[in-house]
Amino acid sequence: MLGRPTLLFLIACCFVSPAHGVVTRDCALPASDCTIRDTARQAHVHVGVTTNRAHGPAERAVIATHFNALTAENAMKWGAIAPTVGNYDFTDADAIADFAASAGLRLRGHTLVWGRLQLPTDLAAQVGAAADPAARLRALVAEHMATMTGRYGDRVALWDVVNEPLDVFTDAFDPNLFFQTLGDGYLADAFTLARALDSDAELFVNEFALTYPSAKLAGLARRVADLVAMGVPIDGIGVQAHVFPLLPLPSRESFRATLQTVADVGLPIELTELDVSIWHFRNEPDPLAAQAAYYGDLVGACMAIPQCRAVTVWGLADSESWLDHMAPFDAAAPNAPLLFDAHLAPKPAYFAVRDAIRTRAVPFRQQAATLRLDVRAARRRGAIHGDAVRIVGRTLGRAKRSLGRGGFADACTHLAGAADALALATGSDVAPLAARLATLRADLRCDEP
Ligand code: XIL
Repeated sequence: MLGRPTLLFLIACCFVSPAHGVVTRDCALPASDCTIRDTARQAHVHVGVTTNRAHGPAERAVIATHFNALTAENAMKWGAIAPTVGNYDFTDADAIADFAASAGLRLRGHTLVWGRLQLPTDLAAQVGAAADPAARLRALVAEHMATMTGRYGDRVALWDVVNEPLDVFTDAFDPNLFFQTLGDGYLADAFTLARALDSDAELFVNEFALTYPSAKLAGLARRVADLVAMGVPIDGIGVQAHVFPLLPLPSRESFRATLQTVADVGLPIELTELDVSIWHFRNEPDPLAAQAAYYGDLVGACMAIPQCRAVTVWGLADSESWLDHMAPFDAAAPNAPLLFDAHLAPKPAYFAVRDAIRTRAVPFRQQAATLRLDVRAARRRGAIHGDAVRIVGRTLGRAKRSLGRGGFADACTHLAGAADALALATGSDVAPLAARLATLRADLRCDEP
């Protein structure tokens, strides 16, 4: 019998390519057997999970092996990090931020302003007791945002600045403490302040129940578009994408249409809290396979929209899903809505997500081949000249052949030659071609030790 640690090791080993150095496979090829992490890297997208305080070394190893992004499920929420106003305990969030940095995981800061749940227990009372409640709440929000961005801004790539600003089912504002005290201007103000505090982070608004066409969906899109037009610094829209039990299953078509509505605002979008309760598939002959197919379709819908550039699954292992503890969804427990089972083994849904991500990855050989053709075309157009251009073409041809045989290290040698030669060329197309060449070399990890 294999013990749990041995099993975990096997799970990790069989899907891992070396953490550093030249790649060992082309994740765009169907037979590649890559992890989600490696596939996402080649596809230039982020795929993450959440982590929580119960995670130990085994969970962390799985996360670092399989994903390239991370969200704290609770640890960075205002009431979790400061149970009462101003009394911060950074222990959990610090550990998460350190883990993300050491494992090369993009960290999503979730969340600065959220009126629905998990606020410091005395926040409402403090605001209510103040002579000027609006001024008091504004000051407390500013203090909290400064604390969070000051401590984590160097490691957080993007913030969910405002979470769930809208009502559960309508396009009205959620009637929470922030809205009631500050009016709808709190939304714009939070973004303006976040930009001033953390100028290099991306700033997202994150909303739930957007998976069906609805007045709420249209309202969110309209409000964000209006705010952006007014100059409010919103950089992206997070679509939570919880597929709850006990509610109708969004059809693939309607999900695609709703994502498109959000994308039409014109900002980057992400699926930020994906989970798919297996309750929907309980009467299928193979519920895990049906869940996997559905997962694949949702992530595929994201991958088919150029602005959709990341997916985060809300939890690592089925045994820890929030849906099993949150009424009314706990009635459907076990919801088993995630990519790993209770033993941290990947489920069919894992592979379906990986395969959906793969649709955005371009095979290395094809990247080299198109680059070579484009160098030639640029030379003919006169957009790149110099004696070295021929060498660029020749070395790219060699790289292409190496890549076709899986000779990744050889390809790196040829691509280095191509880059050196390209640096000697002149013309308007040199810079964009050099950038593409650099991307290919980075994808191959040519320069990683
Ligand atoms: C949930 C957590 O998963 C639970 O552990 C917690 O008890 C409540 O919050 N939308 C969000 C997330 O933006 O922060 C929520 O997370 C799930 C719904």
